[in-house]
Amino acid sequence: MVAAAGGAASQPGWSSRTAFVLAAVGAAVGLGNVWRFPTLAGENGGGAFVLFYIGCVVLIGLPLILSEILIGRAGRSDAVDSVRNVARESGVSEKWAIFGVFEVVAAFMILGFYSVVAGWVLYYAGVFGADFFGALFSGAPFAGALIGEAPEAIQGRMGDLFGNIPLLIAMHTVFMGITFWVIARGVHDGIEKAALYLMPAFFVLLLVITIYGAFVGEFSQAVAFLFTPDFSKLTAPVMNTALGQALFSMSLGSAALMTYGAYVSKETRLAPTAGMIALADTGVAIIAGLMIFPIVFAVGLDPAAGPTLVFQSLPVAFQQMPAGSLVGLLFFILIFFAALTSSISLLEGPTSWGINARGWSRLKSATVFSIGTYLLGIICLLSLNVWGDVRLLGFWSIFAESNIFDVVDGFTGKVLLPVSALLTAIFVGWRADKKLVENETGLEGGMFALWRFLVCWLAPVGVALILVFGLFPGLLGG
Ligand code: PFF
Repeated sequence: MVAAAGGAASQPGWSSRTAFVLAAVGAAVGLGNVWRFPTLAGENGGGAFVLFYIGCVVLIGLPLILSEILIGRAGRSDAVDSVRNVARESGVSEKWAIFGVFEVVAAFMILGFYSVVAGWVLYYAGVFGADFFGALFSGAPFAGALIGEAPEAIQGRMGDLFGNIPLLIAMHTVFMGITFWVIARGVHDGIEKAALYLMPAFFVLLLVITIYGAFVGEFSQAVAFLFTPDFSKLTAPVMNTALGQALFSMSLGSAALMTYGAYVSKETRLAPTAGMIALADTGVAIIAGLMIFPIVFAVGLDPAAGPTLVFQSLPVAFQQMPAGSLVGLLFFILIFFAALTSSISLLEGPTSWGINARGWSRLKSATVFSIGTYLLGIICLLSLNVWGDVRLLGFWSIFAESNIFDVVDGFTGKVLLPVSALLTAIFVGWRADKKLVENETGLEGGMFALWRFLVCWLAPVGVALILVFGLFPGLLGG
């Protein structure tokens, strides 16, 4: 095997399979599930979007998850070096490592804006926290939230937040600081511990709020909305969005799974783990929909409100619901936990690269990349405000109207992630040594053949389509 070629000797490892599964599920489950998925399902008409999304997960996402983890485990190093090691072992050009570089860069860029959004989550957790404790002391803890505040004022809080640069920076700083702290503590004491505590807490909260929503909200309307497909809504750009969302949500193309894969022991069977990650990620996305939409419908809000659905609409709903401030507080804590286990996976990719390729200590590497992404985050955050008119890629039609925040988000989602995913599929399917790949997957016979078919054909073709649709919408009538 190639283990000796990379930084194998110094490579840390998970203390158990459970630790790995929790960390990987933690990486996958994040803002993408709780914030972006319901937003996109709402904007794109519900059922047909959801069905197409599930198709993408099974046919493209699942085979790619296994591909990324196996490169990490076979290469036993950071994302770049692992690809290089597998390429060398397979007797093909080491230039394939370029997609490892893309993945590390994507992780860096995503973390920049991810931390800003997580900062909004912290702000709202603070708002509902203060409201809940205020209500507790005044003896009415189970009333609605933000009593006495006009719904317009509640909605206006988001605009106020965007107008308050010091507050935006403060929240972003706190979130990046926590992410840095976890990564600096290492794989065992940092990443693993965080996942071990936060993921179970996340699942409990998810269940509690979903049950609450089912009782006090319009559950059946939400089910109908999420599962009744209207295929006329499934246009080419919608399919493109669904596939991009699937990649983002499963943490594909952004170094996280390869890096986590490098810490997996040789005894762990990878295929069932990959299945678990895909299942948990998709399950959480759908349950998040079933948590949010009953509440949205209960108070007659617009399910297609867009990215502000969670931050602007739901707080208005919480005002009108029993125990609204407590539920609001728990809701934003839940999103915070999900975001944190994802952000640490985003920081670990670049950090591991710094350790292996540059010979830096973990502390130094985590510091360098935290500061770098932090500064990128500040730039993104200023584009919500004073730099709102800056159009970095104004010459490119799909980004003509995008501020810096949207450019960083859109460029990673529409360009970097699909390119890396495409190269991963071609590399694992066509270039990497077949025996090595087969051994790593642990799949046999028909299952291996099926998986290989997906990696060799369906995944690259599907992802190539995203790229074409995403980058040249005009050409395809999008
Ligand atoms: N999968 C995360 C989410 O759905 O929020 C985001 C993410 C984490 C993307 C880690 C990429 C990554 F490497």
